[in-house]
Amino acid sequence: MEKTLIILKPDAVKRRIIGKIIERIEDKGLNIIAMKMTKLKREEAEEFYKEHKGKEFYEGLINFMTSDRIVAMVVEGENCIEVVRKMIGKTNPLEADPGTIRGDFALKLPENVIHASDSKESAKREIKFFFEEIE
Ligand code: CMP
Repeated sequence: MEKTLIILKPDAVKRRIIGKIIERIEDKGLNIIAMKMTKLKREEAEEFYKEHKGKEFYEGLINFMTSDRIVAMVVEGENCIEVVRKMIGKTNPLEADPGTIRGDFALKLPENVIHASDSKESAKREIKFFFEEIE
């Protein structure tokens, strides 16, 4: 069964909306098979977002992602990578449709509430990053 990695970002934790977001994921029929709350160290955030190094938003992104705790989870379900990407909406909350998680809960970048793997390859890498024990 396909798996994807989801992160509820520091803004979601600070605003106490993680329960609402988790509810949407479960309501959709997806299974959460691993979950942890953690605070990313700077080096960890830099490793996770290394593909964005050098971009103008990189420093702000690292500062944001290390500003508070996050919740990382592995979600399983048929075509879950595509399903979850549809549910979260476009990266920029301004462009995310109402009804999507970012469209309903976020206002501006980089505080877009949630991250989800965008391909099978990134799901594999990102799941390993947080949950070494999961295949
Ligand atoms: P995500 O797509 O989960 O992973 C990369 C993150 O970088 C993205 O969510 C936003 O949080 C942030 N990001 C992407 N583009 C911009 C931008 N133009 N300005 C600020 N932050 C951004």
